[in-house]
Amino acid sequence: MTVTAEKPASEPSVVKPSWDKGLANTVAAETQMSFIDGAKGILEYVGIDIDSLARNSTFEETVFLLWNLRLPTKAELAAFEQSLRAEYALPDEMYKVISTLPKHATPMHALRTMVSALGTLDPNADDDSLDANRMKALKLVAKTPALIANFDLHRKGKPFAKPDATQNIAGSFLTMLTGQKPTAAMNRALDVCLILHADHGLNASTFAARVTIATLSDMYSAMTTAVGTLKGPLHGGANEEVMVMLNEIGTLDRVDAYIRAKLAKKDLVMGFGHRVYKTTDPRATYLKTFSKQVATDTGNEKLYELSHAIEELMAKEVGPKGIWPNVDFYSATTYHSLGLELDLFTPMFAMSRMSGWSGHCIEQLKDNRLIRPQALYVGPHAVKYVEMAAR
Ligand SMILES: CC(C)(COP(=O)(O)OP(=O)(O)OC[C@H]1O[C@@H](n2cnc3c(N)ncnc32)[C@H](O)[C@@H]1OP(=O)(O)O)[C@@H](O)C(=O)NCCC(=O)NCCS
Repeated sequence: MTVTAEKPASEPSVVKPSWDKGLANTVAAETQMSFIDGAKGILEYVGIDIDSLARNSTFEETVFLLWNLRLPTKAELAAFEQSLRAEYALPDEMYKVISTLPKHATPMHALRTMVSALGTLDPNADDDSLDANRMKALKLVAKTPALIANFDLHRKGKPFAKPDATQNIAGSFLTMLTGQKPTAAMNRALDVCLILHADHGLNASTFAARVTIATLSDMYSAMTTAVGTLKGPLHGGANEEVMVMLNEIGTLDRVDAYIRAKLAKKDLVMGFGHRVYKTTDPRATYLKTFSKQVATDTGNEKLYELSHAIEELMAKEVGPKGIWPNVDFYSATTYHSLGLELDLFTPMFAMSRMSGWSGHCIEQLKDNRLIRPQALYVGPHAVKYVEMAAR
């Protein structure tokens, strides 16, 4: 599906509301950041095909592109990387906040709380100017890796780590998490995943972020909303569910029975299907080849083979219905091959999407209107209030 809706020249004061469950056929915002053609399987960031970006760009360059609507020059990219690195560090109080979080909390619950807490520590949290919002976006993208990594260290009873401003975001994150500088291949694998997850039109969490910022709340509140929305298994949480499924299946000979049983029960097979793409998700195309390479390099070929067998069977069984692998399917194999823990998969998605969310908030504020759809009331009318004693 390509979205071709035209903006009405003037908005009539009284319009008959239309019923669109799930808002699948509703255009609710304009964006210059990403374009999706679900029928053809195209995703572009500012007009550049996602495949070219995944093969040639870096996460930092991609964020510059999304926020400035053009590629940077060499000097601009160096300056932008520098400004991100200058904001990697967390305020000292943030480490105190992290140390009070329950160790059994899941990282997505913790991330939602930490992003919110970061807002309490920013004296400019409520400054609504464009410059202040750009700064908040920069801080959020720069600091989220340290939030995720340090919560992971905290729950494992390990000492906190400081970000490494000599490395890119992927490298600094993996170093904090594992205590070791990643190899160039590991760094690149995470960098590619960050590029692929950075923005995706008006997906559920981005929509949620825009709804929040459109009330003229603040960037931290919008990012907190977005993290909570991403957490769901129908959205960002799907990559964790894919890994759970791969673990449950275990061996190649069990793929057929497992998948057929799921389909027979009308259960969802995680990592397949998409609200917009009715063909292979373009982010999954490169990730599939890439995850094969990463899996081979790290001795996880069996996991890749398992994923591939599921994909082939699903293509036969539900491909004709428009159900194809989405980005979460092969990102699960990639993250697992990198040695990353299951419940960190979705936080890493958030680490990347923070750039898209904050970019959308700035776009929303440029031409803001409160986002407030209507509900179709399906309850009774004219019901008499009954006194407590008479109920
Ligand atoms: C993403 C998702 C919510 C899109 O949902 P949607 O646009 O509402 O899709 P629909 O419910 O219209 O799906 C159409 C049909 O395909 C089936 N279907 C959709 N996704 C499926 C899946 N992952 N496995 C099996 N069947 C699936 C539906 O059951 C429905 O079947 P029916 O026509 O027999 O009733 C859905 O595909 C899903 O839950 N996928 C798994 C979770 C996931 O990977 N999410 C990450 C998205 S990036």
